Amino acid sequence: MFDPSLPLSFVTSNPHKFEEASFTAQSFNLSLNHAKQKYSEVQADSLEEVAMSSALNLLGSIDPPFFLEDAGLFIPKLNGFPGPYSSYVLQTLGNDGILSLLSPFPDQSDRQAYFLSVVAFVSDEGVRLFKGRVDGFISASARSKGHGFGFDPIFIPNETPDFTFAELIPSEKNHLSHRSIALTSLFSYLSTVQS
Ligand code: IMP
Repeated sequence: MFDPSLPLSFVTSNPHKFEEASFTAQSFNLSLNHAKQKYSEVQADSLEEVAMSSALNLLGSIDPPFFLEDAGLFIPKLNGFPGPYSSYVLQTLGNDGILSLLSPFPDQSDRQAYFLSVVAFVSDEGVRLFKGRVDGFISASARSKGHGFGFDPIFIPNETPDFTFAELIPSEKNHLSHRSIALTSLFSYLSTVQS
């Protein structure tokens, strides 16, 4: 059972993720508490494994209910790279490195990509995972109007083929994003188990 009068914590050190999640929560009349905590993530082959293991590790130090999220950018032409290694790849190669890897492939069909988000919700009843995916393609160059973070300057969602995520205002990104899809699924579930 979930009591909507209790604060629901989102454990993340990323202020952009918290802002995006709060935006989605508002439409469910939920307010989130920002548990600004860094936690170690296992290196695993799937986001589900990473999210599940992080949730179980945090269980001892944070009182439920809380949730965390693990996300990644997957590029089929690169066999799914960077996928679960997205954070490390962004820090090391950066967006320019991804653009270089794709430079031999100018056709949009070769530049398809998707973001996945896995949200792990922890309650007294255990851990539940919720997922979201948004499909699009990698732009020819990094483009931003100062919005977003991470890979947003090189990711163009199929729904807005002229704009990268970083060129969309936050409410537009939130309308389409992998994170908002996963969170909408979590918040819809919570509305069915309210005590
Ligand atoms: P994390 O492990 O969930 O923090 O994300 C893995 C990497 O993907 C990090 O480098 C993030 O900056 C990046 N990332 C996660 N979500 C997004 C997004 O919505 N847009 C752009 N990059 C993202």
